[in-house]
Amino acid sequence: MKYKINNICCIGAGYVGGPTMAVIADKCPNLTVDVVDINEERIKQWNNKDLDRLPIFEPGLSEIVERCRGRNLHFSNFIEEKIRNADIIFISVNTPTKTKGVGAGKASDLKWVEACARQVAKYAIGHTIVVEKSTLPVRTAEVIRSILDSSLKHNRKENKSSTFDVLSNPEFLSEGSAIKDLNDPDRVLIGGENTDSIEALSDIYKNWVSKNKILKTNVWSSELAKLTSNAFLAQRISSINSISALCEKTGADIREVSRAIGSDSRIGSKFLESGPGFGGSCFKKDILNLVYLSEYFGLPEVANFWEGVVKLNNWHQHRISKLIVKRLFGTVSNKKICILGFSFKADTNDTRESSSIAICKDLLEEGAFLKINDPKVDPDQITKDLDINYQNDIYTSEQKSTANEGWSFHRNIYECAEDVDAVVVLTEWEEYKNINWELISKSMRKPAWVFDARSILNSKKVSSTGLNFWRLGKGSK
Ligand code: NAD
Ligand code: UGA
Repeated sequence: MKYKINNICCIGAGYVGGPTMAVIADKCPNLTVDVVDINEERIKQWNNKDLDRLPIFEPGLSEIVERCRGRNLHFSNFIEEKIRNADIIFISVNTPTKTKGVGAGKASDLKWVEACARQVAKYAIGHTIVVEKSTLPVRTAEVIRSILDSSLKHNRKENKSSTFDVLSNPEFLSEGSAIKDLNDPDRVLIGGENTDSIEALSDIYKNWVSKNKILKTNVWSSELAKLTSNAFLAQRISSINSISALCEKTGADIREVSRAIGSDSRIGSKFLESGPGFGGSCFKKDILNLVYLSEYFGLPEVANFWEGVVKLNNWHQHRISKLIVKRLFGTVSNKKICILGFSFKADTNDTRESSSIAICKDLLEEGAFLKINDPKVDPDQITKDLDINYQNDIYTSEQKSTANEGWSFHRNIYECAEDVDAVVVLTEWEEYKNINWELISKSMRKPAWVFDARSILNSKKVSSTGLNFWRLGKGSK
């Protein structure tokens, strides 16, 4: 039987749920798309008349929201009602690493996914296709399935008719290019058993994605392919970052090495840019999840292999803060350092797992005063990220109080760099590529350093102003 889809509900109005549903609403004007969330503040922000104040910054997103919101795209907290009306429900909630209990530090915490499954089981009516959009450990569909099945007996008693199918449809968008990725994906992956449900979901994507890009697999392959895809991408970054350290020792230049190896069509040029280490909410969490699964299934060699990618990334982030301290005569105590970039990559306001957090914390711990600039990140978010009281307990109380007072936020780059001993570029924002170093140099305390951890500055332009210059994967000039 072919399922007719009129109403879509997405549970979770975050970085995935918001943009993904906005694009579906844009491409499928005949469908009604409801995005629901338990977080009232987030929904208020999605409904903000001022499109500059949506909860997420993504190039191209506000234009789509402007076109579709109130037409066939709606954001609300009416979870029960929207589940009841839906023919298809996307679960797009957070799946962070567990902090407590079995698998703590590695396994994904599925409590939010489980809560969604229970809500769907309770409220859905008729046939509902439940789609895993969140990134989940292999075999999570089984958990969702059994929660939904357990509701069937109850429904029979109550004479309520409901049936379910569970599909896996992981999301591959990258932040900063989410709209472009959603409009023109490399592939759409659908894992499932019931061909009618798979076709119904596939028909939605066919409104703008060509048929040969829609890959259909079994559920477990789809779940595992998502984790593996992120693990492969992160592995490339750890690989190139490991070589950047070797370049600095040997006189090779990481940009030249990247270009040379990326020209091999078997390797390809993407994801070979050395930087301060990968951040973002997913790479680390998804690899650790893969590590946990491998350990669980008795494959310690596989687990160790992938864990190495995360270990290298942690080492690399601390390597950068250490070499900054080393060049500033072995101490940054009471020195001012300008940090350019706090988001985990350019074109997003997201700071989750940003390398800037680890590097700033190291420098604060060493006693530096940080002057921080970012074009999109809210300073309140930085307060949360750098609040070591709130993050972990490895610091003494004395260190905590120093660190919490040790930074200020500046919207203006030139004011941010005034009177500092060093400028450190940590995010590749476009505006940092065109800085007037002549002007900055005049206002810095000498001898002054510029550390380019993103390899985006013109070394000649910086050095010609008398500043000492260090670039990742090349070293000092
Ligand atoms: P997010 O934290 O930005 O958003 C998740 C939202 O779900 C939050 O607003 C939260 O309030 C809401 N939520 C949680 N439980 C709920 C419930 N029971 N009912 C209603 N709402 C609930 O997370 P995100 O970045 O959008 O990631 C979501 C999933 O997508 C994760 O599994 C992640 O791994 C995956 N993913 C993320 C990206 C990305 O770029 N961020 C890309 C691909 C896949
Ligand atoms: C990543 C994947 O690229 C997406 O396909 C996936 O859907 C998503 O994770 C997810 O599952 O959450 P995202 O984290 O948004 O997307 O951004 P990326 O462009 O992958 O960047 C991740 C980190 O790697 C950033 O800190 C970035 O600066 C760094 N990076 C990326 C490098 O250091 N060098 C590169 O060459 C590329």
